[in-house]
Amino acid sequence: MSPDFSRRDFVKSAAALAAAPAILNAQGSNNKVAIGWIGTGSRGDYLMQRMYAANNGANKDVAQVVAVCDAYTGNLARAKDRVLTLGGNAPKTYADYKELLADKSIDVVFIATPEHLHYPMFMAAIAAGKNIYVEKPLAHTIEQGFEMVAAAQKAGKVVQVGTQNRSNSLYIRAKEMVAQGMIGDVHYVRAFWYRNSLEDNPAWRYKIPADATPANTDWQRFLEGAPEHDFDLQRFYQWRLYWDYSGGISTDLLVHQTDITNFVCGKTVPMSCMASGGIYRWVNHDDRDVADTLSAIYDYQDRFHINYSCYFGNDHFGYGEQFMGNEGTIEVLNRQSLNFYPEKFGGKPPAQVAARKELSLNLPGNDNKAVEAHITNFLDAVRGKGHVIAPPSVGQQAAISGHMATLSFKAGKKIVWDEVASEYRFV
Ligand SMILES: NC(=O)c1ccc[n+]([C@@H]2O[C@H](COP(=O)([O-])OP(=O)(O)OC[C@H]3O[C@@H](n4cnc5c(N)ncnc54)[C@H](O)[C@@H]3O)[C@@H](O)[C@H]2O)c1
Repeated sequence: MSPDFSRRDFVKSAAALAAAPAILNAQGSNNKVAIGWIGTGSRGDYLMQRMYAANNGANKDVAQVVAVCDAYTGNLARAKDRVLTLGGNAPKTYADYKELLADKSIDVVFIATPEHLHYPMFMAAIAAGKNIYVEKPLAHTIEQGFEMVAAAQKAGKVVQVGTQNRSNSLYIRAKEMVAQGMIGDVHYVRAFWYRNSLEDNPAWRYKIPADATPANTDWQRFLEGAPEHDFDLQRFYQWRLYWDYSGGISTDLLVHQTDITNFVCGKTVPMSCMASGGIYRWVNHDDRDVADTLSAIYDYQDRFHINYSCYFGNDHFGYGEQFMGNEGTIEVLNRQSLNFYPEKFGGKPPAQVAARKELSLNLPGNDNKAVEAHITNFLDAVRGKGHVIAPPSVGQQAAISGHMATLSFKAGKKIVWDEVASEYRFV
């Protein structure tokens, strides 16, 4: 980890980065923010659609995708079409993100590539003077994340991490309710993410394009920063299943939930984590590394606890966080509904709780709106209007929790975070 970047700097940087003024390199000849898009796979394509859909298409008036880059030519061609159809202009196409970054007319890059590529792409983008929207998790390791936070801080660039729940109206409401004391003191959060799929559709074995070959799938570019390995379509298109490119459930899913718990309850990095699980569901004919079953128990300072569980063999309970205060519960489920229950004792709420009425909000499709708001918040900040809601320092705080779970799971030991040294150790 970067020895010159202390824990104190890390905490201070949240405020410093969020307040950084926007400095645009170029802002195109048409006075729009010029965007380069790196990674146009499943998430990159979705993000781009949301960017164009946001505010009834208003982002089109302030920003333009001028370049797209991908290591699979099929996704690159789709991205070009997407920009043509939704943006009305023909972007340049790149196989090499470094060539895209060399284009000085580009102000901003979106990075939506596999986890292990965030670090080299982010560092190169900062060195090239770009503002960045980077997907979660911030990085593949804790050490890389610290370097990225420091680099962004030094460069004074606007960076948004793709933890879009912070821009979700229901979590914003939950945060306000906790601050108002609606559930009293909060010491305990239950968080979970359950999924299921049929036998012929194993978890995270996403469909490999029928035309994929070494000629249109750039294996060497995909491998940047990862251990050497022979060409492998599964590893390229199903990278989440391999430790070389992914931290598994912890960094793919759990980081959203530690992040939003930090946001709602005002927390940062846990003191300790104990994780356990394994490959229990998807064992047949499958060379996956990462667990499909994971539980993680976190303890934070000031008597705060997260009980997390994830399983890919039953989705009955779905996805959610339950903020369990001494005087009530707020749960946010599937990113689209919020329920509030005042606490009762012997069937009755105590006097100070009695005036708080149960509440249920249901907003189907609210995650789409959250992503749109998250992107708009980023583009506003880049244009000097307000601050990003998920700067790299908070992305790193969420990522540290995720990495702690992966490290604890792999070691079979409890892991402890040293706040002062910004280091972990096993106990
Ligand atoms: N915020 C969220 O809710 C959310 C949801 C899904 C995914 N994500 C994140 O988005 C990122 C991408 O995930 P995904 O599901 O889209 O994966 P994906 O495999 O569908 O897409 C990754 C894309 O990156 C491309 N790529 C690989 N190497 C490259 C290189 N060297 N240069 C340029 N392009 C390269 C691939 O060809 C592919 O098109 C991950 O970090 C993931 O965690 C975030």
